[in-house]
Amino acid sequence: MRQTMISGVGYHVPKRVVTNRELEQLMDTSDEWIVTRSGIRERHWVEEGEGTSDLGVAAAQKAMTMAGVKPEAIDLVVFATLTSDYFFPGSSAQVQEKLGLRNVGAFDIKAACSAFIYGLSIGDQFIKTGQAETVLVIGAEVQSTALNVSTSGRDMAVLFGDGAGAVILRPGDGRSAILSTHLHADGKHLKDLWCEVPASRFNPRVSHEMLNEGRQYPLMNGREVFRNAIVRFPEVINEALTTNGLTLDDIALIIPHQANLRISQAVAKRLGVGMDRVFSNIHKYGNTTAASIPIALSEAWEEGRFSRGDHIILAAFGAGFTWASAAIRW
Ligand code: UT7
Repeated sequence: MRQTMISGVGYHVPKRVVTNRELEQLMDTSDEWIVTRSGIRERHWVEEGEGTSDLGVAAAQKAMTMAGVKPEAIDLVVFATLTSDYFFPGSSAQVQEKLGLRNVGAFDIKAACSAFIYGLSIGDQFIKTGQAETVLVIGAEVQSTALNVSTSGRDMAVLFGDGAGAVILRPGDGRSAILSTHLHADGKHLKDLWCEVPASRFNPRVSHEMLNEGRQYPLMNGREVFRNAIVRFPEVINEALTTNGLTLDDIALIIPHQANLRISQAVAKRLGVGMDRVFSNIHKYGNTTAASIPIALSEAWEEGRFSRGDHIILAAFGAGFTWASAAIRW
């Protein structure tokens, strides 16, 4: 069966930078608390009128330029996000229109922080089976407009940022390939990281009473997320290694979802690798959910952290819970 390669990658973040000092003006928090607990120094938040699809389109254009792919070549759009522009439809159809693509298939997937790897896996299957020649996979997120930026929401508000990353998938060239993807979920942790409202389980889906109670804001049991993340990350990274007969010595760089610098450090320690082989850019962007891995992949490539032919591993953990990894020969 033919293989899939990533032939282009790109990212885009909104212009507006929000520093920890700026958050100190909005809520009872401190630069010191945020940096010590998470490693985050600043994040980018959208301005009025800027939506998830806009960020995704800008990232996609960069990935298309790197791959040398024109809009008419794209056969499928997979858009990974928790935060589509509107409640429905998904943002993927807006991407089709804004990029001037043919009337190709386009859909959103909602697998939280793991969604980009889920999307990569879907795109990989389409190419391997010959259903598509060129797939655009985007991870994009606007979290800032959902946050409670007062002291009662500070545990979440300081962590999240907005942004987008994208890749172009093409049939492999005999060297570069997505070697394997591994997807997992455990729904019993639903309420450890979730946003309840608006919800189709309720009629009406959102009411003044719900808004007054603040049920439209995301909630997280941070300690439980942390505890599970530091187990699932190494587990799913090892699964990628074992499947491909690789060891950590074969891996040029691990690119984890950017949830918290302390999570990445704990994962590196459990795996027995130095932080020089675990990519981190959380200090600049915070946690951008489905966008964090393609943004990190793009920056790491630009910074020359790995070369064509090197092995890298992508790994994610997040709401659902969901977790996933991908082994790639770049
Ligand atoms: O993509 C996956 C999504 N999320 C994650 O991966 C996050 C996983 N969890 C974490 O990263 C950490 O649990 C956090 C960074 C969220 C929190 O760190 P922690 O060391 O677990 O802190 P904590 O929640 O136990 O809170 C410690 C204290 C509390 O005060 P008291 O009860 O000890 O008086 C909080 O109220 O820190 C307080 N606190 C804050 N203080 C200043 C919580 N948020 C803030 C804040 N600024 N923003």
